[in-house]
Amino acid sequence: MERTTLWDITGVDPDKARAVAAMRRQVATDPDRFWLDQAKRIAWDTFPTVACNTSFDGDVSIRWYEDGTLNASVSCLDRHLATRGDQTALIWQGDDAAISRKLTFRELHSEVCRFANVLCGLGVRRGDRVAIHLPMVTEGFVAMLACARIGAVHVVLFGGFSPEGIGERLIDSGAVAVVTCDTARRGAKRVPHKETIDAALSHAGTIGAVRNVIVVRVTGDDVPMKEGRDHDYTALVAQASPECVPEIMRAEDPLFLLYTSGSTGKPKAIVHTTGGYMVWATYTVDVTFPSEPDTTHWCTADVAWITGHTFVVYGPLSNGTTTLIYEGLPGWPQAGRWWDIIDRYNVSSFFTAPTAIRSLMRDGDDLPRRYSLASLRRLASAGEPISADAWLWFYEEIGQKRCPVIDMWWQTETAGPMLSAIAGAQPLKPGWATTPIPGLFASITNEKGEVVTPEGEAEGCLCFDSSWPGQARTIWGDHKRFRETYFTFSPGRYFSGDGARRDEYGNLMITGRMDDVINVSGHRIGTAEIEDAVATDHSIAEAAAVGISHDLKGQGIVVFVVARSEKVAPPVGDLARIISERVGRYAAPERVYLVNELPKTRSGKIVRRLLRKIASGETDSLGDLSSLADSSVVPALIAQVTAQS
Ligand code: WTA
Repeated sequence: MERTTLWDITGVDPDKARAVAAMRRQVATDPDRFWLDQAKRIAWDTFPTVACNTSFDGDVSIRWYEDGTLNASVSCLDRHLATRGDQTALIWQGDDAAISRKLTFRELHSEVCRFANVLCGLGVRRGDRVAIHLPMVTEGFVAMLACARIGAVHVVLFGGFSPEGIGERLIDSGAVAVVTCDTARRGAKRVPHKETIDAALSHAGTIGAVRNVIVVRVTGDDVPMKEGRDHDYTALVAQASPECVPEIMRAEDPLFLLYTSGSTGKPKAIVHTTGGYMVWATYTVDVTFPSEPDTTHWCTADVAWITGHTFVVYGPLSNGTTTLIYEGLPGWPQAGRWWDIIDRYNVSSFFTAPTAIRSLMRDGDDLPRRYSLASLRRLASAGEPISADAWLWFYEEIGQKRCPVIDMWWQTETAGPMLSAIAGAQPLKPGWATTPIPGLFASITNEKGEVVTPEGEAEGCLCFDSSWPGQARTIWGDHKRFRETYFTFSPGRYFSGDGARRDEYGNLMITGRMDDVINVSGHRIGTAEIEDAVATDHSIAEAAAVGISHDLKGQGIVVFVVARSEKVAPPVGDLARIISERVGRYAAPERVYLVNELPKTRSGKIVRRLLRKIASGETDSLGDLSSLADSSVVPALIAQVTAQS
């Protein structure tokens, strides 16, 4: 088949296309009706009478289903007990291939209730924040739903954050309890978890509101336990009742906070609320990744990411679908581990990130061909741009030209996919996230936030014209930052921070971030986070971090630093270590260049565009230098970078 014609490979079913077109028409004419219909997908205590009450103007207020009441765990667990109580809800595959666990909906319900009772017993109340800092183990999953059960707000923290990063987030969220583990497995290594939490809590003043630390035994490694504060998960759960009456929440009560990075300032906690989020999670999983009764759904995202929340936990469970989690790494202890898991559990829906696809491609085509992969029915990718090559490899080698590959674009702020093809209803286009899902209306604006070309080919900034139920409500404790980040760029619209291109048919392709956010292997990192970390070294006067293209990671970080005095220039290796320690291992830079001066505009703004070019070796296309305060900085910079490369 000619590659150029591959974009309609998976065919279009006219009935499905018509059904999706009808959904789009309904939203356009009667959005309230459409979204109230979608609300029927979940279990409510009181069904809402209004769908949307939002304003992107003024102070920005986003409310959905506001007179509805519910408990999120009921949609994921209780309502399935009568019909599929004995169906597997959760499959856990351990790092050790011989160790796995399956929990039915009934068993998961009991475990969640037990842990919910444990939390209550420790004094955790409705509205309290609980931090969860665990690898991919069933207890993390249980802890999230247990928080939901009692109306506590979970804050899942990524295992790769530094103690300082965790401390900052514990203080900011005001968490009253932390659920962590002894250590986690990462290939041949052990990653300290309890030790990291202890270190986070021992920073002067960082203890904040944390009164209890609950420790899951994942590896059995010995860790110190502090009398009165630290508790053993298993011991507590063993004594707890398997019944727990769900706390009835208002639709707009927060369900969770999730930290992510912006271009400036500290990481921000995005707030998602109960009713709208649950409708959105249930709807988006079903519309993009529909399940048949025997579906086993595997999204490889860590639960600490938004994809983990929506496409590993809430979305599949609410739809009554079996969801799989895997503790280990894709290529450990040998390449092909993922393909083995797909065959072993007959995984039908498989969702991963382009970074993983790129690294799996390196293992060669022979490897996946040793596995059957016949159970797969649909594939998806999200988190970063997927190149047409990686898309085609995924389609041909893993999907065996049978399964559609859905490129979904989403963000922590959007809680679920916003751009995604509906397989069967429209052609797929490798490298393109295609169209907004039914219910959404996207615009491409110019740099001033104006819509110049409402239809047809265009390139610019990706915005959304109206709200959706899973939209972030605010930034925890900083509504002003929320409003300014997302709603001032193009008044009346949500600005995503991403650039996009639109083709003549209305398909959209993401061109990358328009702000100073770097996406390293799907990890969103603000340049300011890296620069602040570097600035803690007193010998540094100034730093600028930029993202450059990287074969495997999508983007890699390069940092330019200016020392306070040439005499006390710190060793470059030390700076890389400081970044790893302060931000996290995932933010380790590819290179750190020590330079005399950074290129700046006359108003003193660092010109990152130039730094990106220089770091990428594209010095013959630096573009217009007339905005620089002093263009003689540039040749000196190039010479210094070349000497250090
Ligand atoms: C990027 C991850 C291209 C984008 C789910 C966005 C993508 C950021 C895609 C959000 C995609 C996500 N194609 N880029 N399909 N999906 N992105 O909050 O730049 O960790 O703004 O959520 O990832 O990252 P976040």
